[in-house]
Amino acid sequence: MPGRQIIMTFPVTATSHTLAEYRARGGYQALAKTLREMKPSDVTKEVTASGLQGRGGASFPMGRKWQVIVPDDGQPHYLIANADEGEPGTFKDRWILENNPHMLVESMAIASYALGARNCFVYIRGEFDLPYRRLAGAVEEAYEAGYFGEKILGSDFSCDIVVYRGAGAYVAGEASGLLASLEGKKSYPRNRPPRLTVKGLYQQPTVVNNVESLSNIAWIIANGAEAFKAVGTPKSPGTRLISVSGHVNRPGVYEVELGYPWMKFLEEDCGGILQGRAIKCVVPGGVSSKVLTGSDIAELNLSHEALWDVGSTLGSGGMIVIAEGTCMVSLLQVMLRFYHHESCGQCTPCSQGTGWMHRIIDRIAAGQGRPEDIERLYYISKFNDGTTICGLGDAAGYACTGILDKFRDEFEYCIEHKRSRFDGNLECLRSS
Ligand SMILES: Cc1cc2nc3c(=O)[nH]c(=O)nc-3n(C[C@H](O)[C@H](O)[C@H](O)COP(=O)(O)O)c2cc1C
Repeated sequence: MPGRQIIMTFPVTATSHTLAEYRARGGYQALAKTLREMKPSDVTKEVTASGLQGRGGASFPMGRKWQVIVPDDGQPHYLIANADEGEPGTFKDRWILENNPHMLVESMAIASYALGARNCFVYIRGEFDLPYRRLAGAVEEAYEAGYFGEKILGSDFSCDIVVYRGAGAYVAGEASGLLASLEGKKSYPRNRPPRLTVKGLYQQPTVVNNVESLSNIAWIIANGAEAFKAVGTPKSPGTRLISVSGHVNRPGVYEVELGYPWMKFLEEDCGGILQGRAIKCVVPGGVSSKVLTGSDIAELNLSHEALWDVGSTLGSGGMIVIAEGTCMVSLLQVMLRFYHHESCGQCTPCSQGTGWMHRIIDRIAAGQGRPEDIERLYYISKFNDGTTICGLGDAAGYACTGILDKFRDEFEYCIEHKRSRFDGNLECLRSS
């Protein structure tokens, strides 16, 4: 684990995912404290007071989502950890599942208690192998130790946890698509309202939270909301796990205190840009977040508000760093191929729109672009925005217009000269 260890990370050893080591780090004391001293509403109050925002993409306040659930209304409630992690460039939930799965498991027991959930689920990406085995091992250990099952730690609270393996569709990470998949159907997202907290899994009130979001809960209960707010900025409390890939010398997963200076992070923690090149741009939070240029980020810090101020987002924490010399036409081609491939086909603007975008970018990259193609891409992106059930269509448009806004000249060059200014280069050649 490179970088600082603050809330959920630590130097990893071959056994740091085990119950014994988690307990040695103070693990499961928060669950014991919860069941001994707190009412379910106390837990929700503490989470609300912490200001914790979701880490899955939309940064929605966790407490506000939880407050919708009335724990003792006599209805079944469900809690789901979203471990689908399908956003390109994002691999931080995987770090938790592989190295600190008990932090998620303990947090889910506490969250289930707060929400009055007798059953909770982890929906895990089908391609994950080691993360699945580590998580399944942690769940088994937790049952044996009495942290899940009947009358947890001798209390009146009983809860079961199921780890469910998805089949590998991006759209299955969208919360309503996930629930459909968990019910054994195609992972088609559905319109809201009703919200999932009103009618979710099996038509019952359901909270879906990202793995990293939930994993903060044990720490917040153990240390208190004030301690959590002491880390980060007033509008972005806590830390974020950032998965860094692309043209940096030290890619990996880093825990970063929110508000940390961006360039310091890239230069000192990530070891700078390959071959000492300049930064061309950064995809800040998964490909669905708008790219920012090197000069955009020069004075920025890593916080939700700083990114929102410049029209982008920390999103899923998947940061892709792109060095000078990279071809943005090829980069957009890769992204639009992805969205087209992953569109579920329910909504015409998305299924057709991503298809058109893909075909247009393919012909631009092949040197057959037409002068009107750039405006066409803008038009389709705008047409998709807000006209589909889920955010996939919108995201394709954000990725596209984000790149066109900043690098339009490269597309114009490619259309005019019938070849890319950077010859389609996506590599930062180590040897040159
Ligand atoms: C197409 C699409 C894919 C998504 N994939 C994921 C994912 O893999 N993991 C995730 O946590 N959230 C994903 N989300 C966001 C979820 O719908 C949901 O907002 C999130 O799980 C809520 O958790 P949070 O509030 O803790 O962030 C996706 C959203 C969309 C539109």
